[in-house]
Amino acid sequence: MRKLYIRTFGCQMNEYDSDRMADVLGADEALARTDRPEEADIILFNTCSVREKAQERVFHDLGRVRRLKAEKPGLIIGVGGCVASQEGEAIVRRAPYVDVVFGPQTLHRLPQLIARRRESGRPQVDVSFPEIEKFDALPQTGAESASAFVSIMEGCSKYCTYCVVPYTRGEEVSRPLDDVLAEIAHLAARGVKEVTLLGQNVNAWRGELARGGGETGDFAFLLECVHGVPGIERIRYTTSHPREMTSRLIDAYARLPKLVPQLHLPVQSGSDRVLAAMKRGYTVLEFKSIVRKLRAVRPDLSLTSDFIVGFPGETAADFDKTMALIDEIGFDGSFSFVYSARPGTPAAEFDDPVPQTVKLAWLARLQQRIDEQARAVSAAMVGTTQRILVEGVAKKNADELCGRTENNRVVNFPAPSVHRERLIGQFIDVTIAAALPHSLRGEIVMRES
Ligand code: SAH
Ligand code: SF4
Ligand code: F3S
Repeated sequence: MRKLYIRTFGCQMNEYDSDRMADVLGADEALARTDRPEEADIILFNTCSVREKAQERVFHDLGRVRRLKAEKPGLIIGVGGCVASQEGEAIVRRAPYVDVVFGPQTLHRLPQLIARRRESGRPQVDVSFPEIEKFDALPQTGAESASAFVSIMEGCSKYCTYCVVPYTRGEEVSRPLDDVLAEIAHLAARGVKEVTLLGQNVNAWRGELARGGGETGDFAFLLECVHGVPGIERIRYTTSHPREMTSRLIDAYARLPKLVPQLHLPVQSGSDRVLAAMKRGYTVLEFKSIVRKLRAVRPDLSLTSDFIVGFPGETAADFDKTMALIDEIGFDGSFSFVYSARPGTPAAEFDDPVPQTVKLAWLARLQQRIDEQARAVSAAMVGTTQRILVEGVAKKNADELCGRTENNRVVNFPAPSVHRERLIGQFIDVTIAAALPHSLRGEIVMRES
């Protein structure tokens, strides 16, 4: 059987898209996934351009597979994702051994692009934005575990001054409610118990309730519908935008117990001046007010966030405000990076006097503080009983199983061999025995019933 190797960079949208690439190619010809590029017949890079480093990695890695092509002339090398979307033809000019270049919205056309490459002998580039066509063209997703991702919207219309995503992914496009619910019902029928709804600004979802029906609903309504799908017991979503955290959505946390008390809500900065320069569309006070309302209905809410440190013009006083916000709110983890100037974005033209060394020191302080906060949350979980969804055999010990808590921590726990197989894909209660830096240890709760 021919083999497919996919290397994925960037966010969960890309992780999701990589699986869809495998689906769409697998529907066309029998293909096995491999994690060894040397044995592949098709090599795909699903790229990210959110920061300069991520973008450079692509050309570095491409250079490494180039020699494979010399050994295997029929090898197809493809570049998809956000770098492809932004660079298009320029990728083929810089790396002429690349066969196909496709964007996040044209990945469903991969089989045709590869066929045309083979017929014509010329590289094929298609990074257009045919909107919803992608969702319609993709084959049904297979369910391999009890937890699945479901893409419900694509793109971003917010245009923060530092960010490439609106240019690489296009503007916000929502999938119709019917389609989303049909996919989730299909997954549930195959044993999926937990869904993570995906989108670049997932809570900006605004979909037609029925295809072509005209009437639309908001994200809170969609959550309510997903909540009603039999078999689905846990709902997560990512990434949400503070501007779309409506009171209807906050109320949903009071009404919908299947919604986990865990939320990834990127704030980026704790300084109003910086937030305005970023064009985030909210103030620190507004962000704090959202968190206060959420915690009023869900006192146990665990919050994670994104931060950009060293935005052009950010001062030490601005950074201190970010640290003060972190102390006040208490975060349970973050994706935090030093600002990276992206060509074509407004912020790339802003004055940026702060040296990189200072920015790196700020970032280290921020990450250390949030790590401490997350460790404190883990430590406080010791002795409590947690409901976990069992994912499979533990990575480091085949006699143990692992699962995830509502606040997204991995728990490893011993399980008697006779029960192991049966427990995978089920919810069970475990008592947390110890907190380690990246995981927890647990024990199955025994009940007499
Ligand atoms: N739509 C989401 C985030 C998507 S991008 C939101 O706005 O909340 C993921 C993260 O990458 C952002 O939250 C931001 O923290 C980071 N990011 C985006 N552009 C960046 C840049 N130019 N430099 C550094 N980090 C950046
Ligand atoms: Fe980028 Fe801002 Fe859109 Fe998030 S909301 S993807 S940071 S432009
Ligand atoms: Fe990167 Fe594109 Fe995601 S730029 S973060 S892969 S949307």
